[in-house]
Amino acid sequence: MYCIRNVTPDLLWVGGDDRRLAMFEGVYSVPDGVSYNSYLLLDEKTVLFDTVDHAVEKVFLENVEHGLGKRSLDYLVIHHMEPDHSATMKAILAIYPDVTVVCNKKIQGMINQFFGENVVKNYHLVGEGDTLETGKHKLTFLMAPMVHWPEVMVSYDLTDKILFSADAFGTFGALNGALFADEVDFFGDYLGEARRYYTNIVGKYGTQVQALLKKAATVEIEMICPLHGFVWRRNIGDYIERYRQWSSYEPEVTGVMIAYASVYGNTENAANILACKLRDRGIKTKMFDVSVTASSEIVAAAFEYSHLIFASTTYNAGIFISMDELLRDIASHNLQNRTVAFIENGSWAATSGKLMREIIGGLKNMNIIESTVSIKSSLKESQLAEIDALADAIAETIPMAL
Ligand code: FEO
Repeated sequence: MYCIRNVTPDLLWVGGDDRRLAMFEGVYSVPDGVSYNSYLLLDEKTVLFDTVDHAVEKVFLENVEHGLGKRSLDYLVIHHMEPDHSATMKAILAIYPDVTVVCNKKIQGMINQFFGENVVKNYHLVGEGDTLETGKHKLTFLMAPMVHWPEVMVSYDLTDKILFSADAFGTFGALNGALFADEVDFFGDYLGEARRYYTNIVGKYGTQVQALLKKAATVEIEMICPLHGFVWRRNIGDYIERYRQWSSYEPEVTGVMIAYASVYGNTENAANILACKLRDRGIKTKMFDVSVTASSEIVAAAFEYSHLIFASTTYNAGIFISMDELLRDIASHNLQNRTVAFIENGSWAATSGKLMREIIGGLKNMNIIESTVSIKSSLKESQLAEIDALADAIAETIPMAL
């Protein structure tokens, strides 16, 4: 049975919610599910914007069929070929073989890669600024490479001023009946998942996201229809501002995120003592045990906070496994513009501080605090002064600290 909502009188949401997926892309937990959005425009010509993941194929096909009524599908616009949006394209082509696929050359290449050549009968290839009239509506296409794959493009409906933004402006989380961001407390309940989605999925490509924001700023946008999460029709500027911050690697919170890896609790104890001393100085703190909290959450927090402290035991003469993984994850997401400090622990030959410094030191505009607090098995009374000194060094970089 179909499950459809109207975005506008002639634009339908025909996607689906997936609440059974454990790991999105096999990496990111989605405890609140995820939506795969597809939109159907009923103009003089009918236009389907993207398809969906296999997980919601059944309801999607019923949605499209019901949405079209007795009409045929004239155009299928493909913005992005990642299979969470393109997996059911072949099913659409099988049902509507005469549909014209609207895409760019790179997308065409990927259609061939995923589905083999000749799966599409009719193509309408578009490039930057090309337009397509569908009756009352006129669409224009803007290339958005690396947001989040190289073939990505977005489209803009000049008639209703709607941006079909592909992965951009998406979020983790099923829609649960709501379609518009203003139907929920987005900034209260969903911003964390939106940040985790952005930073982990597109965080590496800040420059390319900025390029897209620049293009988007040249048109008047009344609505944003992303491929995941809610449609935006109110307070769009507030969400765009978050994207500006995230894509420019600008922290949202002045405060310290402490991530620690501790086998027997001694490194954790040092991290806790430092957190207390930072709070004594009026500095906001957030802490993570990297063996407990998934990397994707800590990556998101690293984008959120201005200051980062990594504390790790030495393990097999290196960084503790989960901390090593986290730091490489942060580095691969291209994080920049942070003040960073380290605490190392080692019962005989502590190397984790130097190795952590090497990974983070390679990132752009990192202000790395000179001295690493080095612990031998457990923090001693005599070392409290070092922790105080580290807290002071951090406080000096935070003007509002006490
Ligand atoms: Fe939602 Fe890059 O796919």
